[in-house]
Amino acid sequence: MSGEKPRRLARRGLLGSGLAVLGTRITVPLCTAAQPANSESLKRLAAEKGLIYGTTISANQILHDPAFIALVARQAGLVVPENDMKWQDINRGAPGKDDYGPADTVAGFAVENGMVLRGHNILWYYRTPSWFFALPGRDAKERAVIDRIKTLVGRYRGIVHSWDVVNEPIEPKDGRPDGLRKAVFLEALGPGYLDLAYRLTRETDPRARLVVNEYDIELDSPVHETRRRVLLDLLQRMQKAGTPIDSIGVQAHLAAVGGPPFSPGKFRRFLAEIAAFGLTIEITELDVTDRDTPADIRVRDRMVADTYRRFLDAALDEPAVKMVVTWGLSDRHSWIVRRETNQSKWRTDGLPSRPLPFDADLQPKPAVGAMAEAFTHAPARPPG
Ligand code: G3I
Repeated sequence: MSGEKPRRLARRGLLGSGLAVLGTRITVPLCTAAQPANSESLKRLAAEKGLIYGTTISANQILHDPAFIALVARQAGLVVPENDMKWQDINRGAPGKDDYGPADTVAGFAVENGMVLRGHNILWYYRTPSWFFALPGRDAKERAVIDRIKTLVGRYRGIVHSWDVVNEPIEPKDGRPDGLRKAVFLEALGPGYLDLAYRLTRETDPRARLVVNEYDIELDSPVHETRRRVLLDLLQRMQKAGTPIDSIGVQAHLAAVGGPPFSPGKFRRFLAEIAAFGLTIEITELDVTDRDTPADIRVRDRMVADTYRRFLDAALDEPAVKMVVTWGLSDRHSWIVRRETNQSKWRTDGLPSRPLPFDADLQPKPAVGAMAEAFTHAPARPPG
């Protein structure tokens, strides 16, 4: 699987099967709105080095924010639903009461615009429907997990490039010798839930890349180092057990100032350790909170841009890094700006955060130039 060409969804090829699978035909306007001449096309600069650059998106944005969607189409070669494919966002009420409408809209947009589509996420302890917890016993929970995987992955078979199969499975603070997170799926099914999830996803869509997606593995601190070791141990166990896995997702939710330092050398060595497993690496949720930066917009935008550049220079130096996804493209749509995050990321002066490459008016910020520089200076990846 490694080295698989990213599947750019041919408008013609999949439109029939793809959109048929997705239910109704989704006529999403091809994005033709004029773009500021001064904004680089990040997807083009990335593609010139064999990289994919993309961003999160939502059905709501596709249907109600055409100017933003036009920017996404110009700047991104990949989209990933920020929330629309999560279990609790597809099923809020009762078993079998799934609403795939928003997820179909996102998938249809990717197919319509010939973009790579990431699947996020199949199992995540944090967005599991409440009825799952009330199921009577192990067998019922296992059946529900199997049904979730077969239904979701089967629906987008041949359309999704890579799946975050289990999102955030580790938590060393929970005290298990294996460092796994003591959360709903582990408690219900034991550590074998990981093998079940990855094997069944592979069986359901043999061409999709299977990803373990994690956070707080980027910085130079004892906590991050412990998480890196635990993750590498998990990879070793999974590969030894013959459990299919193709890639590691490094979320990369960063801060311009404050928090642990970033050591390019240590991070680079960690990426090399992952690559030594024969895995590729996807930077899956990159953003840079400006929580502790000065109020002056020019100063903090520069600090945010410098953080993007330093991180990407180190990450892209590893040839196994094939993809960079920012967790949003514009400050107009950011979980940090919406404060859907713990308060530690919020600015203390009450000013809106500015974590993403484009501002809320869809204008490029210094971070666009910084990312463009990082892509331009990145070593070229072999095609495929
Ligand atoms: O849609 C409702 C809206 O109707 C309601 O008015 C509003 C206020 O209650 O809530 C809205 O739902 C919110 C949803 O995002 C859509 O904006 C949820 O409360 C909120 O909890 C949810 O937060 C998302 C979070 O994951 C939990 O799913 C963030 O947008 C999303 O950026 C964040 O993304 C995660 C990745 O999936 C995994 N890695 C970490 C990352 C950041 O936490």
